[in-house]
Amino acid sequence: MTAPPVEKVPKELISADRIHIRVGELGAAITADHAGDPEIVVVCVLKGGFIFAADLVRHIGRPCRIEFIRASSYGNRHTSAGRVALGHDIDFDIAGCHVLLVEDIVDTGQTISRVTDELRKRAPASLKICCLLDKPSARKVTVGIDYTGFTIPGHFVVGYGLDDAEKYRELPFIGIATT
Ligand code: IMP
Repeated sequence: MTAPPVEKVPKELISADRIHIRVGELGAAITADHAGDPEIVVVCVLKGGFIFAADLVRHIGRPCRIEFIRASSYGNRHTSAGRVALGHDIDFDIAGCHVLLVEDIVDTGQTISRVTDELRKRAPASLKICCLLDKPSARKVTVGIDYTGFTIPGHFVVGYGLDDAEKYRELPFIGIATT
């Protein structure tokens, strides 16, 4: 009988404590920048952004409306082929609103670029981008990121919402995928 494969645990890159502190700092910066705005429409990019967005809004000291948009890029398991499909859309007219797009990671930049192009067509009063992780080594499209949690090297990372084939999203830290 063959033994079951041994599950490899992702190697920690950013601890849960560091994430918690940084999310608080991002929330404070966003709060200060939106001090005069009556409401922020927080648009979370699914699926990877769900944990980050949930923590971040609890550190934003302004009224927030929460919306979700789904973006999927097709390619190999760890590389984007550049075709980005938008799935579930926000069900709210953002014209004249202050919008904060919350994304887990900016890699090639193609996903965030596709989503921002789409949202800009809807004439928001402002549109800012907040990403937890920035992996500039793989960038193919120039993206103006307003708030970045951590800039990381070109590893494929998992945890805190990020997956590898739908695994590891539940990890409280960011780890380097070992497979
Ligand atoms: P981009 O379009 O190449 O910038 O990739 C953005 C999307 O690819 C992210 O929203 C993630 O869903 C996924 N992605 C890119 N790099 C990683 C990674 O290191 N771990 C998990 N997902 C990633």
